[in-house]
Amino acid sequence: MNPRHVAIVGATGAVGQELLDVLARRAFPVASLRLLASPRSAGKRLRFAGEEISVEPLGADSFRGMDLAIFSAGGGTAKEWAPRAVADGAVVVDNSSAFRLEPGVPLVIPEINAAAAKDHQGILANPNCTTAVALMALAPLHRAFGLKRVFASSYQAVSGTGAKAIEELRRQVSDLAAGRPATAEVYPHQIAFNVLPHVDVFGENGYTREEMKFLHEGRKILGHPGLRASMTCVRVPVFRAHAVALSAEFEREPDLAEARDVLAKFPGLRINDDPARNAYPMPLRCAGQDDCEVGRLRRDLALENGLALWVCGDQLLKGAALNAVQIAELL
Ligand code: A2P
Repeated sequence: MNPRHVAIVGATGAVGQELLDVLARRAFPVASLRLLASPRSAGKRLRFAGEEISVEPLGADSFRGMDLAIFSAGGGTAKEWAPRAVADGAVVVDNSSAFRLEPGVPLVIPEINAAAAKDHQGILANPNCTTAVALMALAPLHRAFGLKRVFASSYQAVSGTGAKAIEELRRQVSDLAAGRPATAEVYPHQIAFNVLPHVDVFGENGYTREEMKFLHEGRKILGHPGLRASMTCVRVPVFRAHAVALSAEFEREPDLAEARDVLAKFPGLRINDDPARNAYPMPLRCAGQDDCEVGRLRRDLALENGLALWVCGDQLLKGAALNAVQIAELL
């Protein structure tokens, strides 16, 4: 691959920091790197591959001469600036939900639908983090047995909300440990020592937008418009890595040994499933790790042709920065 002139929009955020690390770690061929954020961060210096680079405020000249722009600065910023980056000749990989369901915008998890990336018109979308982690285990099972419907609950880390939420959990834990009251600013309730059945905003059907993302993005990524899914997304007081409990029903009766085999062979996924040794995927183990893990695999007792399983993955990596760089590597 020829070296690319790369811009990162949202370089100072939780995902932006990971993007710098992933680009360096995977030796992505970077000819030059431009770090962009809001005017609040202008002049801040960030390290990339042993060098310090100044953060610039996002502006009219930001994308001139850039080949690739990776956006992780929220939907509003993406909607406003991604088309301008494309007009200036850059290919955009966007981490927000702004373009994910638009026709003509490939929504890609490279291990699942790499071929879709070819059909881009300048913008490619990175899936929702919980969707990405769950699909890493569901996709190989879908190929083997034909997925019909999924019931799921997520256990989502605060870093999925961003840098301010990480700080809020840390502050609440130390305030409570010191006997001080905890105040909530990012979330509507205290997140420390609590769980909130509330991720993103509520819609008219009672599901949150995060829960609906799993259904709509799952259909698009798997190329399976008939997929049915019911998820409850839950924020938990974990710093990093999301987990998802899944009950999935298939067209064909899933053989457990065959299920284990297709999961074991799927790139980017590891089986960690030895209940006798208390071995199963956990956020503390998956945080900082590129591969997602699957465990607790068993026949689902409530469904016809069903499997129950538990998946865990670092949502800042496979759910965001790693997947975005993997998409860029396909281009
Ligand atoms: P900044 O740090 O200057 O606010 P997180 O999801 O961790 O909160 O990070 C969001 C990222 O998006 C940060 O890098 C943030 O920059 C950036 N960002 C937010 N709003 C804008 C904006 N209007 N223009 C450019 N970057 C933005």
